[in-house]
Amino acid sequence: MLDIAFAKPALPKSGALVLLVRENEAPSGLWQQADEATGGAIARALAATEFKGAKGKTCLILAPGAGLSRVLAVGLGKADAVTETTLEEAGGSIVAALSRENVVAVAAGELAPAQVAQLGLGAALRAYRFDRYRTKEKAEDKPKLTKLTLLTADGGKAKAAWEPMKAVANGVFVTRDLVSEPPNVLNPAEMAERCRTLTSLGLKVDVLGPKEMTKLGFGALLGVAQGSVNEPRVVVLHWHGAGGPGKKGRDKPVAFIGKGVTFDTGGISIKPAGGMEDMKWDMAGAGAVVGLMAALAGRKAKVDAVGVVGLVENMPSGTAQRPGDVVKSYSGQTIEVINTDAEGRLVLADVIWYTHQKFDPRFMVDLATLTGAIIISLGHEYAGMFSNDDELSARLADAGKAVGEKLWRMPMDDAYDKAIKSDIADMKNVGGRPGGSITAAHFIKRFVNGKPWAHLDIAGTAWSTKDSPTVPKGATGFGVRLLDRLVADHYES
Ligand code: BES
Ligand code: MN
Ligand code: ZN
Repeated sequence: MLDIAFAKPALPKSGALVLLVRENEAPSGLWQQADEATGGAIARALAATEFKGAKGKTCLILAPGAGLSRVLAVGLGKADAVTETTLEEAGGSIVAALSRENVVAVAAGELAPAQVAQLGLGAALRAYRFDRYRTKEKAEDKPKLTKLTLLTADGGKAKAAWEPMKAVANGVFVTRDLVSEPPNVLNPAEMAERCRTLTSLGLKVDVLGPKEMTKLGFGALLGVAQGSVNEPRVVVLHWHGAGGPGKKGRDKPVAFIGKGVTFDTGGISIKPAGGMEDMKWDMAGAGAVVGLMAALAGRKAKVDAVGVVGLVENMPSGTAQRPGDVVKSYSGQTIEVINTDAEGRLVLADVIWYTHQKFDPRFMVDLATLTGAIIISLGHEYAGMFSNDDELSARLADAGKAVGEKLWRMPMDDAYDKAIKSDIADMKNVGGRPGGSITAAHFIKRFVNGKPWAHLDIAGTAWSTKDSPTVPKGATGFGVRLLDRLVADHYES
């Protein structure tokens, strides 16, 4: 992770300096000092490029003098409209513009300590890279930036605000790392092993294998898994943070459940070849749950939480399930498998019922790259939210807005539920093309047993093909910050 440091405001003698500029602001402080030290080079450059501090605008000045290699002016927009997101995006744009610098100092003197930390969070999130499998990248093509020093009078307070944010950023990176891994490396057993390593953060980790699942009767999940030589796993991550360290929590836990299909070929209802490699990230819901649990543990959140992920590989083979098979879910309800590519809901059916039975949680939120149809509905900006509970939905939507992981609530209605009636079993696993994301949500709803619940369809938001201010292209880590904020705002004692 990018090293975020804090120091007293002083003009650096070398390296790069960042100036945060509100719209039409006059130079003062370090900005003024830097301008004087460089004989007015900064003022001249800003005037020449007509930089006035508009939000999202930047101006890069090369070798302005006074020993500085670069000065970057970053616009924050109108002084009274600077939000959390403004600062995070400013932090991200600093990293994007100055990746060739080794050490960068930011004049953050005008900001409150929490705002300084938010700037650092945005920078850290943008600086993420998944580098493991590049062996030939030349040094001059790699980003050099290792340290961002935030120049602020109250470094102690800013650092205190940064500590929990750092834990959340680490959680986001846990998710991005898992989601980025190729599917030959990250099969269900390997993902379970990586979950186990999180015991170092204080999480308790339990793993169920096929024997336990067979005994319990996870017929829906096992039906998906049966076509693969890679065995399935269910991983339960526990965090006991309510009531202080060492004490037993009194609260019912909050529960997060993730779809973890480590590769989705579609099974016998096989997908077309074009773009199938994307289905390595069909475990992003599970990845987000694991990253969230790492974040909660990392910042010692005062909550009892449980994360449960269903890990399977969906393959076509001589042992794979067929369209037309009828499976018996852990809940006892039977399912006619019409399309083996609608596998995520089969996995969630058993894992959600298990979570409900075993932990009797306050609520359940599941995350899943569940349907291509949600991408048709909402594109890549909003994730789809489906819920039986207005309060939980409103809280989730607010949390999403605050952290920039936006949710749009979609309708649920018994009229849609009719689409998954089966002639042979209690239900079938697809409801046809119309409203495909909604009928999928109705399928899941049949396994929540009336608990307050929300289902987040993140098929459009788990992976990005272009850079954005705080999210480099690739695995986004969508859901970690959102759910961490949900917990922080409403469920900590
Ligand atoms: N994992 C896919 C959904 C998906 C599609 C995620 C594109 C990310 C990008 C899911 O398992 C799937 O195959 N869904 C089918 C459902 C259909 C068979 C009812 C789909 O969306 O086509
Ligand atoms: Mn599928
Ligand atoms: Zn899938």
